[in-house]
Amino acid sequence: MKTHNIALLPGDGIGPEIIAEGKKVIEAVAEKERFKIKWRPYPFGADHYLATKELLNEDALKEMGKMDAIYLGALGDPRVQPGILEKGVLLALRFYFDEYVNLRPIKLLEGVECPLKNKTPKDIDFHVVRENTEDFYVGIGGAIPKGKSKQLLEVKRTLYNVKFNLDIEADGDELAYQIGVLSSKGSRRVIKYAFELAKKKHKTRVTAVDKANVLSNIYGLWRKVFEEVKKDYPGMETEYNFVDAITMWFVKQPEYYQVVVAPNMFGDIITDLGAMIQGGLGLAPGGNINPDGISMFEPIHGSAPKYKGMNRANPIATIWAGALMLDEIGQEKGANDIVKAIEEVIKEGKVRTKDLGGTATTSDMGDAITGKISE
Ligand code: IPM
Ligand code: MN
Repeated sequence: MKTHNIALLPGDGIGPEIIAEGKKVIEAVAEKERFKIKWRPYPFGADHYLATKELLNEDALKEMGKMDAIYLGALGDPRVQPGILEKGVLLALRFYFDEYVNLRPIKLLEGVECPLKNKTPKDIDFHVVRENTEDFYVGIGGAIPKGKSKQLLEVKRTLYNVKFNLDIEADGDELAYQIGVLSSKGSRRVIKYAFELAKKKHKTRVTAVDKANVLSNIYGLWRKVFEEVKKDYPGMETEYNFVDAITMWFVKQPEYYQVVVAPNMFGDIITDLGAMIQGGLGLAPGGNINPDGISMFEPIHGSAPKYKGMNRANPIATIWAGALMLDEIGQEKGANDIVKAIEEVIKEGKVRTKDLGGTATTSDMGDAITGKISE
């Protein structure tokens, strides 16, 4: 029997509750499809940070590097300054494992109420492929003091290292800046992934998102690379959408979209909107994918600290992220079992969490989905 080693990071807030349900569902699928999962839990997150001042450690990263995937709950806690855990754990993992694709299916499941008038499951079913290592997420910038100053900024990535040696002269009162970086290799690999995904899913159109009319340096490069990559896919229709316009079209005409590829920050923004049109953040999964390395799967939503320990959050996004994980590690049948079970439970409508207008708990939902799998 095949055994998969999975790193388990429950994280903060509702993270432990939702990840427990995801684990339960995956174990049911493993039994059904006859494979084994060996879970290796890690404590990273707010409690661990507050107790030890440690965000991640090299030994754990090396260990995870030998596993098949990482399954993550959520990060973020009001006791810790915003950004510390997000950057120090979540983004650090994405960058360390060079998970350059953030794959976010936008799919309205049968039985879910859509906030858009007259849209049905056949109208909302596309993928956003978000770049996951570059853009304004490289995290460099600073405050500029009045007068002359020097600043050295560095970005270290698997693909490259880049240093900015800045001589700054400012007469303004208070200034700050943030640098976005795109590389042609970094853009090419994620754009290629989007085209390959379109091909695999028998789609006919790839839409590239940017704001090249204003941020013309970085998104000019993005377009140049897109033009090059598309030459390898002669049958595929292609187009550019500005990010502001695509938010409008997601609402007005979601049925138009098939595969959407976006730079990191715009991909972040449009996938929260995508989550809403598929019925809410409680239903939206994501995969941080390195096709040749270690990928990490998580719900798109955050740690919702105010619901921590209340057994009320919807675990579906996390359970569905588990399906994306099984798909990536070669258990496609198990992945389908999970999505089908989620769909059946929602369609039946007997078990609904608060966000879906019901009274079921987090564990009720996990039990219902597990039950469908074992049926
Ligand atoms: C997401 C989140 C993260 C991001 C935050 C928590 C750093 O919003 O996964 O979409 O911006 O990527
Ligand atoms: Mn986000």
